[in-house]
Amino acid sequence: MSAPSLEARDIVKRFGRVTAVNGVSFSIAQGDVLTLLGPSGCGKTTTLRIVAGFEKPDGGAVDIQGRTVVAPEKGVNIPPENRGLGMVFQSYAIWPHMTVFQNVAYPLVIRRMKAPELKERVEQTLELVGLQGYGERPATMLSGGQQQRVALARALVYSPGILLLDEPLSNLDAKLRNQMRIELKRLQERVSVSVLFVTHDQIEAMSLSTKLAVMNQGKIEQMGSPKEVYEQPSTPFVEDFIGRVLRFRGAAAETTEDGGVMVEVEGTGARLRVGVSEDRVSPGTPVQVAIRPEDLQVHDGEGSNVLRFSIERVIYLGAECELLLRFGDVTYTHVVSRSLQSELGSTIDLYLPPKQLRVWAQDRAASQQPAISPAPVPGFETARAASATS
Ligand SMILES: Nc1ncnc2c1ncn2[C@@H]1O[C@H](COP(=O)(O)OP(=O)(O)O)[C@@H](O)[C@H]1O
Ligand SMILES: [Mg+2]
Repeated sequence: MSAPSLEARDIVKRFGRVTAVNGVSFSIAQGDVLTLLGPSGCGKTTTLRIVAGFEKPDGGAVDIQGRTVVAPEKGVNIPPENRGLGMVFQSYAIWPHMTVFQNVAYPLVIRRMKAPELKERVEQTLELVGLQGYGERPATMLSGGQQQRVALARALVYSPGILLLDEPLSNLDAKLRNQMRIELKRLQERVSVSVLFVTHDQIEAMSLSTKLAVMNQGKIEQMGSPKEVYEQPSTPFVEDFIGRVLRFRGAAAETTEDGGVMVEVEGTGARLRVGVSEDRVSPGTPVQVAIRPEDLQVHDGEGSNVLRFSIERVIYLGAECELLLRFGDVTYTHVVSRSLQSELGSTIDLYLPPKQLRVWAQDRAASQQPAISPAPVPGFETARAASATS
């Protein structure tokens, strides 16, 4: 097997008393996109800058295409320009006094590429990012999206093996960001470059990555495919950071024969059967039971794992209606189709499939929000995680 495009081993970086990066390791295979996802201040940019060579780590090592580019213990530190990386940052940092062509050509000029080949390469790359014909424009006479494409073209023009992207879309408005996100994915597949991508936006992270690393306080909490991380979060932090979640406080009552656990929901007398338990919860342990809202099913009447929510309000939205629901101290906004509206009474029964429930020991979940999920924006379930941080 060939060496990974990029390998980071146990990177540590301190700024005074702050440990910005605290033992981060990952590897990116050729053509893969690894995303560092996490809240503002968790160490994403610092990690990327260490890979790029703008920041020197206190410990650990980085290999690029099998060659060690930094390892303080061995006295290795190759300067950024010799690491063979392309980079795009949040602020596009394109040069305002140059034309689009000159901006994109710059990395080739400093590599002393001859004119005919240089011109061809620049034009090919402009075409790749959808800017053919824009070469002679002053860089300042471009929209935000176009400027970002120039930055992308400049990063790709000398065909680097690895592209580093630090929140490259976050300065764009929502509509353009969506469009650029899709374009970026197409582009990455077309040139088959390996990418280290940094974002706090979970939609970007989910849709662009082959591998996702969720960071918290300088550490990677979980790494896996977007599907694994979403469907099998390994900590309450990851579960909460990616997607929406409903939490019920309670106490473990007894374990079941198939490795599950019965939980008594606090202050309600209700019992929930949880399929599998990640944490070891012996009877009496305070726990939180968590479920993704899309896994709740409207149920006809009582049954096991069915909770009766009171309907506090119904908000008519045309095709759908939004129900503001309460169960004990848990409030929750559930969207149902309009056709159901005529059948609504003052309560609604929701079935919580045991297999979709996760149980966490209360002390592990202590740093999390109380058992309340924020109201969704209709049609945009993940709005919260996409906008709550940074
Ligand atoms: N040059 C610096 N000097 C001092 N502290 C820094 C510096 N750069 C980053 N930090 C601190 O390191 C932590 C991680 O920052 P950063 O990597 O920028 O996070 P992120 O990109 O995830 O928002 C933060 O606490 C930040 O304040
Ligand atoms: Mg950052």
